[in-house]
Formats: sequence, structure tokens, C-alpha cells
Amino acid sequence: MAGTGLVSFHGSAVPPDNFLEDVVAGLSLPQKQLPPKYFYDARGSELFEAICSLPEYYPTRAEISLTRQHIAEIARFAGAGCELIEYGSGASTKSQILIDALAPVAYVPVDISESALRAAAAQLAARFPWLNVRAVVGDFGRPMAIPAFGGPGRKVVYFPGSTIGNLTREEALAFLRMTRGQVGPGGAMLVGVDLKKDPNLLHAAYNDAQGVTARFNLNLLHRVNAELGGDFVVAKFAHYAFYNAPMGRIEMHLASLERQMVNVGRHRFSFAPGESIHTENSCKYSIEEFQALAALGGFCGEKVWQDAEGLFSLHGLVAA
Ligand code: SAH
Ligand code: AVI
Repeated sequence: MAGTGLVSFHGSAVPPDNFLEDVVAGLSLPQKQLPPKYFYDARGSELFEAICSLPEYYPTRAEISLTRQHIAEIARFAGAGCELIEYGSGASTKSQILIDALAPVAYVPVDISESALRAAAAQLAARFPWLNVRAVVGDFGRPMAIPAFGGPGRKVVYFPGSTIGNLTREEALAFLRMTRGQVGPGGAMLVGVDLKKDPNLLHAAYNDAQGVTARFNLNLLHRVNAELGGDFVVAKFAHYAFYNAPMGRIEMHLASLERQMVNVGRHRFSFAPGESIHTENSCKYSIEEFQALAALGGFCGEKVWQDAEGLFSLHGLVAA
């Protein structure tokens, strides 16, 4: 543990990710794939923040707007003086709205990106000098130790941004069940979930005119080169994102522009022209679909808030 004042940093008590093993396993599949959690090195986190301000990327604006609009009710739901745990906290921008309204006894941001967590913690310390911040660098896809406070307030897990949409159904269920165990009886969860909508709007959000999403996607190849000694020629791959309607999800891929071989460490992979690496799913839900999933994960849907345009939802769930 390390920190200053009311802010401290914890590593999660689990073995570190095996980036090389995951890359080799993913690139060996018939449909090549890479886990989206590896987008978020320091550069990836910066690019994600740039995505959040793009005119086409509506989710961030919509979620911030609905949070501001309904903050009094959201605060009543969560309960003042709660312990607020946030998974995939990134820049902690939305959480600052909650912290302002809730004055939690402690805030535990959890993120795989240490650089994002450190930048957010510095901002939080400046804006909320009274706030107990226990930052955890870790992977929410694995069992993780969360600092305990033992106070009387309820535990509330915050999972905004529709990061839950980046998980498969099985991963989302495992995540919900893990958090259900963490918040305990009487605990609650606030989950941001992007809604199904006009595929043209969805398509534009993941194919922005400035090419920031393309750089975010391609950064994964730079990361493999830098950290695993890969020799991807990044210019020979193209960002490719589309809405897969039957699956209800945006798929992001990196498509090979020609026949080529790529080495990662002592492993060698061949690419046919047009063959892709599937890098991310971003699942879109109807309110009912998500409530059904939450119920299977051990939560009852108590509240749902939406922005004025009905683009995005925030679900207030209580432990069943
Ligand atoms: N909550 C913020 C950021 C969303 S971006 C918002 O709503 O804007 C997704 C965040 O989740 C990133 O900060 C990324 O680093 C983090 N993340 C992605 N996969 C993760 C994982 N498996 N474990 C922990 N954090 C993860
Ligand atoms: C973090 N996550 C919810 C984003 C999304 O929309 O799926 C990541 C992202 N990928 C491309 N643009 C943004």
C-alpha cells in the first residue's frame, strides 16, 4: 500500500495478467481475438478520454446529463454516507457528481490502468480533501480484495460507462454475482447501460470522423509491439467497427490490409487479406433485457433513469 493523506494505492491480491499468454491464445483462434482490457495502457486511457468528448460518441454526454438531471433521486437511492466502490473508474469524472451529492465515507476506484487511476486520485484529492480514497489497481474479471471500512453505511458499487457492455453474457453474470457478494445483504449497485437504438447512430459513435476510435483500436497493436516484442506493421491494419444487429452489439475489429506474417516473441501468425482480429464487443441492451440479466446476477431492479433522448440508462439495483 502506498499513498499520501487520505489517498492510498493498493494492488489487487491476485497474480498479474499474462498479456503474452492471452495474446498468443487469442491470435491462435480461427477468429483471431484480443481481450479489450488490454486497450488501457497509459496511451489507451488517454485515447478513451478523447473518445468521450467526440461529437459522435453520445454515451458519455448522455450518462453525465442523466446523472446531473436525476442526482437527488440517485443520491436517495444510494444513501448518504455509503461506501462507494467503482469498477473501471478511469478518470472518475461521473463519480465526482455522485461524491458531491453523496459524501460517501470512502471511495474505492478500481481500474486496470494505473496511470488513469493515479491521475484521477490526484484530482479527487484536490477537489474532495475530506474524502477517503482507496485506489485499487486490478482486473475486475478476477476475484479481488476490496479494502473494508466496516462502517454502518451500505456498500454501493458504481459501474458506469456501459463497461458492462464490453463483457460477454457469462462475464457480465460472473461480475454481477461477484459484486452481489461484495455489497452483501442490503447493498446496491448503480450500472450505466447503453441502450439499443438506430444502428446509424451506433455506427457513427464507433467510426468517428477524426479517427480517434481507430487510433484507440490500433493502439493495441502498438502495445503488443512495445511490451511483447511484436512486429505488427500497424499501417497494414485498419479499424473496422459495425453493428451486429442479431447479437445486439457493436463489434470492433482490426482488419489485415494484405496477406502478411506477424511475430510475437517466438510465435508466428499468418493473416489473409481482410482477415480480422476481433478486439471488442460493446453490447447494447433494452431496459428489460438488462433487468433480466441483473436478476440472474442476484439483483432486483429498483430504479431506472434515462437521459432526455432515451439514449442511455442508469439502473439502480438492490441485492436480491
Ligand atoms: N468509468 C469511466 C471509464 C469507462 S472506460 C466512464 O464511464 O467514462 C472503461 C474503464 O474500465 C477504463 O478506465 C479501463 O481501464 C477499465 N477497465 C477495462 N477493463 C478492465 C478490467 N478487466 N479490470 C479493471 N478495469 C478495467
Ligand atoms: C468503455 N467502453 C464502454 C467503451 C464502449 O463504448 O464500448 C469503449 C469504447 N470502444 C470504442 N469506443 C469506446
